[in-house]
Amino acid sequence: MLNDDHDGVDTIATTTTTDLGSPPESYLTEGLSDPCTILIVGASGDLTSRKLMPALYNLFLKDALPDPFRIVGCSRTELTDQSFRDRLKTFISNNAEIDLSEWERFASFIQYHPIQYDQRSSFVELAGRLKELDEKSGTGGNRIIYFAIPPTLYKPTARMLGSVGLAAEGENGNGWSRIVVEKPFGRNLETAMVLDQSLHKIFKEHQIFRIDHYLAKETVQNILMFRFANAIFEPIWNRRYIDHVSITAAETLGVENRAGYYEQSGVLRDMFQNHMMQLLASTAMEPPSQFEADMVRDEKVKVFRSLRPFPLENLKDTLVLGQYTAGTINGNRVPAYRDEPGVQKESLTPTFASMKVFLDNWRWQGVPFYLTSGKRLGKKLTEISIQFKKIPHSMFRQTLGENVTANLLILGIYPDEEITLTFQTKSPDPRVSLRSVTMDFLYNQNYTGPVLDAYEKVLLDCMLGDHMLFWRKDAVELCWGFLTPILMECETCGNREDRLLPYEAGSWGPEAAQALRMNQ
Ligand code: BG6
Repeated sequence: MLNDDHDGVDTIATTTTTDLGSPPESYLTEGLSDPCTILIVGASGDLTSRKLMPALYNLFLKDALPDPFRIVGCSRTELTDQSFRDRLKTFISNNAEIDLSEWERFASFIQYHPIQYDQRSSFVELAGRLKELDEKSGTGGNRIIYFAIPPTLYKPTARMLGSVGLAAEGENGNGWSRIVVEKPFGRNLETAMVLDQSLHKIFKEHQIFRIDHYLAKETVQNILMFRFANAIFEPIWNRRYIDHVSITAAETLGVENRAGYYEQSGVLRDMFQNHMMQLLASTAMEPPSQFEADMVRDEKVKVFRSLRPFPLENLKDTLVLGQYTAGTINGNRVPAYRDEPGVQKESLTPTFASMKVFLDNWRWQGVPFYLTSGKRLGKKLTEISIQFKKIPHSMFRQTLGENVTANLLILGIYPDEEITLTFQTKSPDPRVSLRSVTMDFLYNQNYTGPVLDAYEKVLLDCMLGDHMLFWRKDAVELCWGFLTPILMECETCGNREDRLLPYEAGSWGPEAAQALRMNQ
């Protein structure tokens, strides 16, 4: 099959996959034996209804939750078990079709307990209720504590939980206890370390699960399989053959209703400190000797250690920051960032960043990695593109000229979950001619089994106690160590306003971002 829809590159769908059929039904629950209670702290908020509950409900439908399991939501809002379940049902059924009888079965495992974050007595009651639930339902005192609260509440809440014995493992009827925290893990290196110290006073590192939903995306997990389960890519995956790597996470969404958070974080903390760094690490890391959580995370840490510090005196050649102005997205007019609800009129928060990063190690010396992410860009697109070097000498230059397009490998994460490789062939033409063609592999081709969304995967892994797809403390600190000087320089310099370049919503960001690549 041939079509010409790739800007001058012919697409030839040549990959053939073995039909994998459907895996056995028990497949998702294999190894998942521990019953547990999932305690969601901050359960009246957006994260619970938008992400956690739909994920838990889907896992329930896939028969992937342990038996028995219970979910207890708690927050300041005064709700009963029933009114909490009703709220969830309304939210979830407004966004997806639900099977009412399955929902009722799922909802019967959900309870709600109002708490006051600053009152120990409230946590004593909560602990009592959880203990009672363990005894009645047989959840064995195993619990996952999911922090769906603002980071400012992490420290006092962890302290309260610890003081009523909910962090302890293996004593007073407790089984294991795991805590899940969402980003932001601090605002900079110092605050991240303080936050970690306060969590570590109560929980040990093996109990802490720091989520990055990008790590749980299927095609992000696939990067390591693709690189390390094939013999043909690794030998060329280095500075001798690769010219540069571009990692892009472009969004069409604006700040939505999250101005309170986003104004404080901006794109560097929101996307770079976490997701972009993980994409970089998976692309650049060395193979560990075994596919085991800490060995994989050790290799990622080595990548973060080799990040070359930014030349602060000359940031413009390595970093472009932007903020969107009004424009058109998918045919609709959208306002400027500064006109979004909750955003300050004079806001200097960047919504776009593109940076040129180098890794000072043997494999990658001299290869630029371009990391780009922004809101309100032309298209929602997440991909890693590996641009190989040009051929060293063209024997065709007399007939076809000097320019032979270099190979390009794209690991598509969104919207197309695919891997494409572009290379040169002769065109079936009596004349001597070259054409660029692309081989595509669609990630879900010939697979009909269950697919987990990112939150389903992280919840399942947390129940299994598998840290593979979670951040480790040292990695968080190394990434903050890299980004903090940049943030300080950008946020405290006198010409902050000049550095923030406007770009029209629906465009591809400030033109200067393209220029970053020119002076490679
Ligand atoms: C979140 C950021 O972590 O990732 C959001 O806080 C961003 O601002 C989102 O929109 C992007 O995730 P995805 O999976 O849609 O690419």
